Amino acid sequence: MNKADTSSFTVVIAIDGPAASGKSTVARALAARLGYRFLNSGDLYRAITWNCLSQDVDCRNVGAVASAVGNSHVEIGCDGTDYYPVVDGADPRAHLREQVVNANVSPVSAVPAVRYILSAAIRVHAQGRQTVVEGRDIGSAVFPETPYKFYIDAPAQVRQRRRRDQGQTEEIAKRDFIDSTRSTDPLTIAPGATVIDTSTLDVEGVVAAMVEKICAQGLVFDRTRR
Ligand code: CDP
Repeated sequence: MNKADTSSFTVVIAIDGPAASGKSTVARALAARLGYRFLNSGDLYRAITWNCLSQDVDCRNVGAVASAVGNSHVEIGCDGTDYYPVVDGADPRAHLREQVVNANVSPVSAVPAVRYILSAAIRVHAQGRQTVVEGRDIGSAVFPETPYKFYIDAPAQVRQRRRRDQGQTEEIAKRDFIDSTRSTDPLTIAPGATVIDTSTLDVEGVVAAMVEKICAQGLVFDRTRR
């Protein structure tokens, strides 16, 4: 298959892992290397959370969150090579990393209706595209059929230090606990996923390991891209 042949195919590279494991950085770098687009699914969950908070919805009330998400309209916009969420016509990107969103995003993400709506939107969006998608359940639940799956990890202390270095005081362990123990699509290592520990590898090293793996799996892409 030559490069032109791949352009109308759906290809999803799934990258999952806990908070501050380095997923976004390596996912964006891998997308650039392959000439793919990048979708941070966590931004969609954060956008729904921000939308609930903007409407004074109690984010601990499952019924209220389900009703709010059912009445909202989620779209996926494109900015250069990155996709981003649009909710009810608003671009919430300036608010997605606020502390109040950090504190409420995991309870909101545990609501089955939220997961159902966002997983469906991501699946529809990926059709006919070549995308690196990162999140918590991408390889296990959203695209279990993709052969290209990675689980990015690092010890909890390393991940907490990274968040502090980014100027954030958030206790990521709380989010990891809720994300790993929820009943619908919890954070888990998808069957067949390649696990990469980012504590001893730099971004280039992680991307190189991923490229080696997907090439060995037979994915064809323009190798002259940097
Ligand atoms: O970047 P960080 O590791 O802090 O997290 P994120 O990717 O922005 O995701 C924020 C939150 O969204 C997670 O803690 C999960 O609660 C939720 N999430 C999810 O449930 N499923 C996904 N596919 C992506 C994110």
